[in-house]
Order: sequence, then structure tokens, then C-alpha cells
Amino acid sequence: MSGICNDEGILCALVERLGNLCGKIKFLLSYLCQMAEHLSIITGSKTEIYQSLIPQIKALFEGEPDLIANLANVSAALKEQFGWFWVGFYLVKDDELVLGPFQGPVACTRIKKGRGVCGTAWQNAETLIVDDVEKFPGHIACSSLSKSEIVIPLFKNGEVIGVLDVDSNKLGQFDETDKKYLEEIVAILALFPPVGGEL
Ligand code: SME
Repeated sequence: MSGICNDEGILCALVERLGNLCGKIKFLLSYLCQMAEHLSIITGSKTEIYQSLIPQIKALFEGEPDLIANLANVSAALKEQFGWFWVGFYLVKDDELVLGPFQGPVACTRIKKGRGVCGTAWQNAETLIVDDVEKFPGHIACSSLSKSEIVIPLFKNGEVIGVLDVDSNKLGQFDETDKKYLEEIVAILALFPPVGGEL
């Protein structure tokens, strides 16, 4: 290399510039990858936590049109930030809910419309907060450790295409603040992929 550089001044300068440019591109790419994979976990009020988390969830979706990938990352982000017992999605397939991406212990794979908290939220097309799952008629107990639950329907073109289900091992874990921000999160999700998605 030094021989070429000594003999050919212009070539030498070009090679050096190319080397510098490659270094910068490499640095930028590694920075962007780090950004995409790193979640900033904060402490604070529920509102502060959601307000920190939502822009990060939006950033995770940027440039990623695959719904399953985005559902998986939302489950992971919510689980990592809040430490809830179970966080995941059920997707409507052939008139029943089928288990989708989730974080937590293994769970029931299929739920009929109108059954359990998930099937009821789907049927009513509205969010359900259950302070004590044992008091919810027809609750489907995937785990006896689950004590309270919130289920948020996921809409696309006015139809429920799935639900976000969150379980806590504490009674009365979820409130109107969770409803507001989790509905915001699933509304963002419904925009991805904007066109021609899998669902
Ligand atoms: N408890 C839910 C079933 C799903 S699991 O909690 C993951 C229900 O009653 O629909």
C-alpha cells in the first residue's frame, strides 16, 4: 500500500479518503443499530414512563413493515419497562384468537369470540380492565399467578384484528392511564404496515 501511495499521490489521497469515509459509515451504522436495539428504561409516574416509552416504540417501528416483528418488539418493550407478568398479542385467525408474539410464561393458544377477557374485548371491540380476574365470569386462567388484566383491541379498517393482553401478578394493576397509553400504542401499531401488510 505504501508503495502505491508513494508512487501515486492522487491514488494515495483517494484511498485515505475512502478509508475515512468507511470508518464514518461504520460508526454511523453501529450507532443506528445500537439506537434501534436499546431501550431506555426509566422510573417515574406511569404517565412519565409511557411518555418516555411511546417515542421509543415509534422508533422501533420506523422502517419495519413486518407486523409480527413490531408486535414482538412492543411485547418486549412493555415487559422490559414495566416487568408485568405476561404481555402479548392474540391475532384473529379464522374466527378465533390465536396466540401471537408475547413475553412471559407459555399461554393458551386459541380463544373463541366472547370467551374470557380477550374474547370479550374482541366481541365488544373495546378495552377491558379486570381488577380481579377471579371475579370475571369466564376468565381463562392460563396461569394461576395472573391476578389482574387489561385487554386492548387492535383495529384495522374498523375491524378488530387482534388484541394486546397484559396480565399482572398483582390485583388492580391497571387503570385509565394504562388504557389511554396502551390504546395509543396499539393505534400506532395499526398504522404499520401502512399498506399491503400481512394482516
Ligand atoms: N386470561 C385471558 C387468556 C389469555 S392469558 O391471560 C395470556 C382471558 O381470559 O382471555
